[in-house]
Amino acid sequence: MGGVTGGSTAAAWAALRGLPHPTLAELFAGDADRPAALTRRIAWPVEPGSEAETGMLVDFSKTHLGDEALAAFEALTEAAGFAAARDALFGGGIVNPTEGRAATHGALRGSGTEAQVEEAEALLARMGMLVEAIHEGALGDIRHCIAIGIGGSALGPALAIDALTRDLALVDVHVVSNIDGLALEAAFRACDPATTLIALASKTFTTTETMTNAASALKWLADNGVEDPGGRVVALTAAPDKAVEWGVDETRILPFPESVGGRYSLFSSIGFPVALGIGMDEFRQMLAGAKAVDDHFRATEGRANAPLLAAYADQYYTRLRGCQTRAVFAYDERLKLLPDYLQQLEMESNGKSVTAHGAPVDGPTAAVTWGGVGTDAQHAVFQLLHQGTHLIPVDFIASIAPGDDLDPAHHRILLMNCLAQGAALMAGKTSDDPSRAYPGDRPSTTFLVEDCDAAALGALIAFHEHRTFANAVLMGINPFDQFGVELGKAIAKQIESGKGDFDPSTKALMAAAGLA
Ligand code: F6P
Repeated sequence: MGGVTGGSTAAAWAALRGLPHPTLAELFAGDADRPAALTRRIAWPVEPGSEAETGMLVDFSKTHLGDEALAAFEALTEAAGFAAARDALFGGGIVNPTEGRAATHGALRGSGTEAQVEEAEALLARMGMLVEAIHEGALGDIRHCIAIGIGGSALGPALAIDALTRDLALVDVHVVSNIDGLALEAAFRACDPATTLIALASKTFTTTETMTNAASALKWLADNGVEDPGGRVVALTAAPDKAVEWGVDETRILPFPESVGGRYSLFSSIGFPVALGIGMDEFRQMLAGAKAVDDHFRATEGRANAPLLAAYADQYYTRLRGCQTRAVFAYDERLKLLPDYLQQLEMESNGKSVTAHGAPVDGPTAAVTWGGVGTDAQHAVFQLLHQGTHLIPVDFIASIAPGDDLDPAHHRILLMNCLAQGAALMAGKTSDDPSRAYPGDRPSTTFLVEDCDAAALGALIAFHEHRTFANAVLMGINPFDQFGVELGKAIAKQIESGKGDFDPSTKALMAAAGLA
């Protein structure tokens, strides 16, 4: 990343490593205003043009960040050239040096250079026209969409569709990623071929899983009497030439810029299936929520900056306390796919061993992101969080407004449980019986959105994009490449061709699986 100054970051890290580690109880005892001092709120209009605001708050007070640590992290921020790196991110600078690229996902929601924002707006308008034309019947009676993609071309759409189309889906969307034919078969069972559109989402338009699933989906349409299966395909890609070559008509190709990374692409045309399901107005609300976080992230410094503060907590736990994992629990059924989404965002971005300049990193990088949905996880894995030997920082994410129409008791119990877990992890409990004692002093961060709507989802996603970026800058790594995924792909091709120097174990497995 731009502006990394090796010597002074080393000094800043040395200062951080020398700090004492006060307990949460000590931190609270030392500062009566700690909850207020460490809670951030990001707001956005309830609807476009409205004076009334809604938003989300993030409470970091149950993390071990005290004044001393915060000041030391602010010094690291400066030494790492964070402000310059952030300017480069939003200014179209080369923030992905190993691939010589900018990272322009911010421009998709209006946060970027004038030229990038204009380009993004034009592409969005084009997508909007196609979405609206489909809603109005331009491609016939479309009631279902099978959205085929993988990784960043699937996880965002799957999350947003699951979160936002529970009450009403303008089109019933099924996201299929896995090459395992069972995944596509499940979508076939749920859709009527006569009224199904296929959305092919692939930045490169070469990904084996996606292209194989695409061919099978077209065959399914043809086998079921659809006369022009190709006429039912919409391509979402940064490689429009490849989509044309594959046979998609240019009028149904929605491009996005090469500088938008796969895991950062939900707000580009990769979001087309989401827009199809929720409508363009709601899709634009998702962009507006993300933009509110962009604005906060760009305009706020040091500990006042919520995504940067989240990165301070991440760095504190991974580099200073040796935590290898971070858990995320969504206390909202609509966000149950958020941990999966964050797993790719954080682990594919920051799971690196070298700096942006190719030198070995001077400490651990991304923690393993894992998680689940509350309250289910409480009855399954929280035992380890409360009494296990690992220290695991936890994020709780909840909505103040309920999404269901049942007895309000449901949502009250959900929220009570969410807050109780954070309190219990921190407080612990003494007991004469060691099996019944809780050590406590276990950290958590709580996110409360006022309502889990499209804008809030956009805000949560942008928050984590910027948290990931801020972590990368503090560690001096490039979050925008992912060369680590390539070797396995290459070996799969060798196995397919039978030409390769395979180790004895793999050879034996190939024989057993009938692949030799
Ligand atoms: O293999 C990893 C990866 O390249 C991800 O980064 C990406 O989101 C995914 O594969 C899908 O790639 P594409 O959108 O090009 O099909």
